[in-house]
Amino acid sequence: MIHTQSLHLSQDLIIRRDPQYFDSFTAFNFVNCKTYHLDHNQYRVLKLIEKRSTSEKDLFSSLGKGSKERGRGEEIISEFLKEGILLEKIFEKTKYNTTEDNLGKKQVRFIPNSKVPVASFPTRADIFLTHRCNMKCIHCNVSAGKPLKNEIDVDDWKNIFDQLEEEKIFKIQISGGESTIYPGFSELITYLGDKKFKTSVLTNANRLDDEIIELFAKSRISVGVSLDGATPDTHDPFRKSKGSFQRVLNNLRKFQDLGIQSTITTVIHKKNQHQIQQIFDICQEYGVKMLCFVFIDEVGRGVSAQDWMLSVEEKIKAREYFHEIYPKYKELFYATIVQPENYISTIKNSQQSVFCKAGTYSMAIDSDGTVFPCTMGVQLGAIPIGNATIKPLVEIWESKNWDLFRGEIPLNQLSACSNCSLNMNCSMKKCRMRSLLNGDIQGRPSGCPSAEMKEIEQAIFDKDCFN
Ligand SMILES: C[S@@+](CC[C@H](N)C(=O)[O-])C[C@H]1O[C@@H](n2cnc3c(N)ncnc32)[C@H](O)[C@@H]1O
Ligand code: SF4
Ligand code: SF4
Repeated sequence: MIHTQSLHLSQDLIIRRDPQYFDSFTAFNFVNCKTYHLDHNQYRVLKLIEKRSTSEKDLFSSLGKGSKERGRGEEIISEFLKEGILLEKIFEKTKYNTTEDNLGKKQVRFIPNSKVPVASFPTRADIFLTHRCNMKCIHCNVSAGKPLKNEIDVDDWKNIFDQLEEEKIFKIQISGGESTIYPGFSELITYLGDKKFKTSVLTNANRLDDEIIELFAKSRISVGVSLDGATPDTHDPFRKSKGSFQRVLNNLRKFQDLGIQSTITTVIHKKNQHQIQQIFDICQEYGVKMLCFVFIDEVGRGVSAQDWMLSVEEKIKAREYFHEIYPKYKELFYATIVQPENYISTIKNSQQSVFCKAGTYSMAIDSDGTVFPCTMGVQLGAIPIGNATIKPLVEIWESKNWDLFRGEIPLNQLSACSNCSLNMNCSMKKCRMRSLLNGDIQGRPSGCPSAEMKEIEQAIFDKDCFN
């Protein structure tokens, strides 16, 4: 027998309704990052419990009158109790400073004139705290070093984080520049520790003191670390910083000791291309949760990093090497490598409208408060949507400036993609920023799978014919 009066929603849970985004009902646990796709009845049950209008009569009559509905209601509640979404005890108030129910009292927001599915507010945001950096890495896509002219202060960021929480964002990722160098970084991390959404921080892990690391643990922040080699002679010159490799390892150990979740991103370049196995070993040794291998994008200082870029043949080998090794580590952690086939789905999508996450459920906020569609928008300084110091984020999300990302350019207006035989299966065609990176917003995106696969086929053909 379930006593509905003693049911409480887990305080680690955000529940949202996005009528224009595939009419979705979602619950997100921002501590373990689990997403639950709900049906309408499940959502109703959770909302009623969240609102505390949980007399049995209220709760079950909301699902319908008969005993069948009551049975379904009990089933839903039992499932949620098992998952830890609902708890059957009187809660002690935790430190979260949000009210029990704010969205319940508000109307769900509709975004005017969108031709594509769009969430009522982003579920994720990339935050660029600063363009300052303690390093001068060869490849840096934001050409980091000095701060932007009008970088916003701690109070501005607190205000932005308040809005993100109020509007029920699921997660944010703090990038840069090197965010740990931002004046007031510790204050912001403490502030974020009280927020009801997931925060992760990307860092070069070179200037972290024990105080910051302990703060990460206390604020339940997960950390994404850059490791661009398995030895000092491959990582340090790329990062132009002697001793950097060892500093990264020392900090990975501290994260592990304090139970901080860490992931690693590795740029594969000329010097580390033979170290893929060793990088897997490092992840295993330091309890890393995820490993992502990427290649250098030609943006920011990446444009002049030609000497470090792999040839097509080298990329083929690196990918083969990755796929040979990964099965041995699959049970331990998740790993990926960038490859053209990843963008080609077996499922056909015959829609004419072209859109990606930018402006439909995601945005990026730069260090001066400018809202861009995505991280590449920040890197290119391209297509600003609005500024968070001037307008509330909800107004910026409703802006017409997003139209380009909300289906304004249909597939038949994309010069290369409209005639491409892969276009129904290709997700890369959606990326306006990668097209812009190639010089034409309606043209072929940089990294186009068709172009890359042709290069790969040519390289294999040349090897077979001329070796
Ligand atoms: C711009 S950094 C900011 C966070 C932090 N300073 C760091 O280095 O990890 C974020 C990630 O982007 C990667 N990155 C930078 N420039 C890149 C490029 N041109 N191509 C691919 N990845 C790049 C970095 O290696 C790092 O993993
Ligand atoms: S990649 Fe990161 S550490 Fe390197 S210069 Fe750019 S922001 Fe700084
Ligand atoms: S041209 Fe390239 S990006 Fe466009 S649909 Fe074809 S494979 Fe995809």
